Amino acid sequence: MIHMLKGKKIILGITGSIAAYKSVYLLRQLVRAGAEVQVILTPAAKDFVTELTLSTLSRRPVLTDLFDEQSWSNHVMLGRWADLLLIAPVSCNTLAKMAQGQCDNLLLAVWLSATCPVVLAPAMDEDMWKHPATKKNLQTLTGFGNRILPVEAGELASGLTGEGRMAEPETITDFLENQFFSSGPLKGKKALVSAGPTYEAIDPVRFIGNRSSGKMGISLARELHNRGAEVTLVLGPVTTSSDTTGLRVIKVESAAEMFRACMDEFSDSDITVMAAAVADYTPAAPVAEKIKKADPSLQLDLVKTEDILAAIGTRKKENQVLVGFALETENEEQHAREKLQKKNADMLVLNSLRDSGAGFGKDTNKVTIFTRDGQKWPFETKQKETVAADIIDTIIRLYYA
Ligand code: CTP
Repeated sequence: MIHMLKGKKIILGITGSIAAYKSVYLLRQLVRAGAEVQVILTPAAKDFVTELTLSTLSRRPVLTDLFDEQSWSNHVMLGRWADLLLIAPVSCNTLAKMAQGQCDNLLLAVWLSATCPVVLAPAMDEDMWKHPATKKNLQTLTGFGNRILPVEAGELASGLTGEGRMAEPETITDFLENQFFSSGPLKGKKALVSAGPTYEAIDPVRFIGNRSSGKMGISLARELHNRGAEVTLVLGPVTTSSDTTGLRVIKVESAAEMFRACMDEFSDSDITVMAAAVADYTPAAPVAEKIKKADPSLQLDLVKTEDILAAIGTRKKENQVLVGFALETENEEQHAREKLQKKNADMLVLNSLRDSGAGFGKDTNKVTIFTRDGQKWPFETKQKETVAADIIDTIIRLYYA
């Protein structure tokens, strides 16, 4: 195993939340990845996890109090020792205290005096998470420069299902390794990738779809992530599962949903790669009830969908890089160059269906990259993961070298 966090000094703050049980796994992963971890518990956290477990795993005494009878914990030096203060889980109560600058326990004192960066992984029930007071506190903390990791949706301690679960330990470790402590060329950059097919509803049970597996787009998202970018993947209804650890995934179904998700996300994205096979047409009026086979023939009225790549092309700013794909069957080069101009992309990746190793559902692809200034780079047939690396290398070489 590669010790990606070797030598990193991390303070792991744990507050009173059911999600604290996950912090035990998190601690184990951080230590395995080579980090030196000092655990600090709030008094409330002691009801959820034991000091014995945490001190054994971290190979250090766990700190909880500002002082005991014999000694005083030097919170100022702790905050200076660390490369990172990670509070996971951070409860609703601790968030509120932090936003107010309160200091009634050791963890808060360390937080207030820390000179190192701070990453927070909140955990709470959905109603608490969505309360305006919590939102305001999170905004305040973001304003202080603290980094908030997104909560996940799923089963909550209350028995309800919704948003508010603490990010999984794997997600947190992956974030620290691939973004926070990354030295990759795209560190600090945000990327948006669309991938997969879209399904256009005809009635509640039928749809118009296509054969895209999403493999190319997901490989691109992973490759961007591996180079240090923070990646949002807008993913259509793919049928095979892929590893998306560390990616923020927004699942969509129709072209209209994909359009909305991409438009919401692209404005603060440095690199936008539209690799999805978006339906060009959608049923004009999807039927609410299942269509019965009453008539001898059936006609479907289709209307054009919005072109997401083109819409982003008209809105993008100078410092944003926009990459499109094209799948052509004839006059490939001419069509690719026209598409590049028409959609105002910076780069266009052409797959030709004439190449036997390229296309939908295959594990390999053969691409040619065209850029706005007229350059052209042909590549050999390769595995999609390697093609993704070639594309991202080209983006880095042209725009971020
Ligand atoms: N695209 C998109 N939104 C659409 C259709 C396409 O964002 N509604 C994007 C694809 O993700 C891809 C590029 O546009 O990056 C090219 O799509 P393609 O279907 O090959 O080209 P079209 O512009 O639709 O033209 P045509 O189908 O006529 O070749």
